Amino acid sequence: MEASPSRHDDQRQARRVVRHYSRLAPAYDRRWDRYSRGSLGKLVERLPLSGDERVLDIACGTGRLESLLRQDHPELDVTGVDLSPHMIEVARTRLPEDARTRWYHGALETVKLPESSFDVVTCNNAFHLFPEQQESLLKMARLTRPGGVVAIVDWCREYPQIGALQLVVRLGAGQRRRILTRAELSTMLGNAGLSSLPVQPQS
Ligand SMILES: C[S@@+](CC[C@H](N)C(=O)[O-])C[C@H]1O[C@@H](n2cnc3c(N)ncnc32)[C@H](O)[C@@H]1O
Repeated sequence: MEASPSRHDDQRQARRVVRHYSRLAPAYDRRWDRYSRGSLGKLVERLPLSGDERVLDIACGTGRLESLLRQDHPELDVTGVDLSPHMIEVARTRLPEDARTRWYHGALETVKLPESSFDVVTCNNAFHLFPEQQESLLKMARLTRPGGVVAIVDWCREYPQIGALQLVVRLGAGQRRRILTRAELSTMLGNAGLSSLPVQPQS
């Protein structure tokens, strides 16, 4: 059977994302250091952790969040998933796998993990790359235990700088990006049954 146009587009987008981040992987931490430090720092500040939780990081990249969390909470159980095998390779080198550390190469859309099995699910600076964002949120919600937390940090379309950045990045990498307004994200969160901390702007 022939793939429908939108499925075909999604697959092309996934291949572009893999190509882009696989090339970038060895230099990613250095090149995005300032930005990552800022956004991950804000995320870490807000996560309600006491130290014995199970955390799933979607689109974990080079595993920088996991290593930051471990500094404060050595007993934390962390799982990272990423579409790019090269990003996962860097993450594995940074924090080797053990009983409390797992890395999966794969897409959020297809990764097989037990439902309701994580206290906290995070996604930093990647949500704009997901082809079916509502579906992605539903999946994150299914993986989170009742009463758990889904935390998303991403660009907001309201900021004028983001419009310019989006154009430059699109011209450069050829990737499609879906950068939402805060209102759009709030609606999607609601549709996924996720209530309802206000979406917090940061520049
Ligand atoms: C900008 S990097 C962010 C990495 C990390 N979260 C951080 O903050 O350093 C975006 C990451 O999203 C990953 N990614 C994109 N689409 C994905 C998907 N559908 N499933 C899993 N990972 C994905 C890419 O491979 C890339 O590593």
